[in-house]
Amino acid sequence: MSKRKLLIIEDERAVAKQLKWGLSKTFDITLAYDAEQAERALAGGRFPVATLDLGLPPRPDSPEEGIALLKKMPGISPFTKVIVITGNDDEKTAMEAIGLGAVDFCAKPIDLDVLKVILQRTFHMSELESACRNRGYRSASSRFHGMTGISQSMQRIFETISRVAPTDYPVLITGKSGTGKELVAKAVWKESTRADKPFIVINCAAIPENLIESELFGHEKGAFTGAHRTRAGKFEYADKGTIFLDEIGELPIAMQVKLLRVMQEGTIERIGSHRSRKVDVRVIAATNRNVEEQVKKGRFREDLYFRLNVIALHLPPLNEREEDVLILARRFLEEEARTLGKGRVRLSPCAAAAIASYEWPGNVRELQNTIKRAVALSDSGIIYAEDLGITGIEGQLTDLGGQEESSPEEKQRTLKEARTRAEIDAITRALAATGNNISQAAKILEISRPTLHDLIKKHGLKG
Ligand SMILES: Nc1ncnc2c1ncn2[C@@H]1O[C@H](COP(=O)(O)OP(=O)(O)OP(=O)(O)O)[C@@H](O)[C@H]1O
Ligand SMILES: [Mg+2]
Repeated sequence: MSKRKLLIIEDERAVAKQLKWGLSKTFDITLAYDAEQAERALAGGRFPVATLDLGLPPRPDSPEEGIALLKKMPGISPFTKVIVITGNDDEKTAMEAIGLGAVDFCAKPIDLDVLKVILQRTFHMSELESACRNRGYRSASSRFHGMTGISQSMQRIFETISRVAPTDYPVLITGKSGTGKELVAKAVWKESTRADKPFIVINCAAIPENLIESELFGHEKGAFTGAHRTRAGKFEYADKGTIFLDEIGELPIAMQVKLLRVMQEGTIERIGSHRSRKVDVRVIAATNRNVEEQVKKGRFREDLYFRLNVIALHLPPLNEREEDVLILARRFLEEEARTLGKGRVRLSPCAAAAIASYEWPGNVRELQNTIKRAVALSDSGIIYAEDLGITGIEGQLTDLGGQEESSPEEKQRTLKEARTRAEIDAITRALAATGNNISQAAKILEISRPTLHDLIKKHGLKG
């Protein structure tokens, strides 16, 4: 088992080092020397337990800073258990801290053996809680704000979103095209305390380079040729709310610099104006590029990357979420059938197998489009593998005759099924080609109208 992650928040470097030295055999330790560092470390939600020295800069001799951080904890990392480190004889503060949700306290000078016992107990508590939470979660929901997923990676994403959304930290969502980045961004917004405030989307790739600044931050009348009137930018519209910067990897370097400054200072300036306006905006960004690589190539500013990447959500490609593929397919099938008023539509076993084994280079979007198309074209209530039109699977899978080593009896049945299947197929196509005109379809099939009629009835096809 890998070592348990412990965050030590301690401004006295000597004490921090001593703790690290004494505990790193048992725990995987991260040090934070002030509240800001601690908040950043905690925002990722990766620490089940943290020790918090209440006396932090700028007032290391009073517990104020530590208490303030403790109060913020539920918003930053609600599941982290905090053990406070207090000055000697400061029981009153210790009790106040417990009242604020700390699980235990330890007085300075720290007795390492005592702290170890407290830590073991606290980790144990955290693990029990997390096991309960996970169990409840798994059975409770394969859906989350419009997303479907039972794979471990999606469940973890749902959990992380609900944990980090209530903070105001920036979020960077990465993943290939069609993996669901926009849905994730919306889920973060919906789970946040800003859910009733605007969610403004900007696609950085869709705006011409020379207009991006004005689009983001606005302009004054006459600021540039064509600026006939004053316009507020998207950041102003998003005030108190959330802005979603989609395809942030396409943002020109000069704009990256400006965006970073806006995020650091919380103010914007419209083009042509020197007035700074305060904006309170939570930034969510997404990209299908490998940002670290972009940083290395000098195409994405490292400082902006660090600023955005406080909370990182990565969506794996669909073919790495095997458990989700068929569940998603069936969900899209149901939705599309309902939309088109088609009644029950189901996947043939081979269609299901084809869906499960296909690579889905276009990820969830491709799966959704494939199912939509197949449902629209299907008239039989069954979608067969070849109706999916996904390249590379034809010939490998056919819905009938797939049994191996069959007895003569089974072969007989297989042939019968093959005939039925061929009938259904030919009839479906003829009907589709003629817009459900029975006479014309019968002609194409070289059978009589009544025969066609009977066959349609027999196979439950729509005529
Ligand atoms: N987990 C999911 N459950 C249900 N639908 C999903 C899921 N993930 C994605 N989708 C659907 O797939 C389509 C693509 O999702 P989305 O637009 O969020 O992807 P994206 O990562 O932003 O893609 P791109 O990089 O191309 O912009 C959307 O129609 C979305 O509703
Ligand atoms: Mg998108």
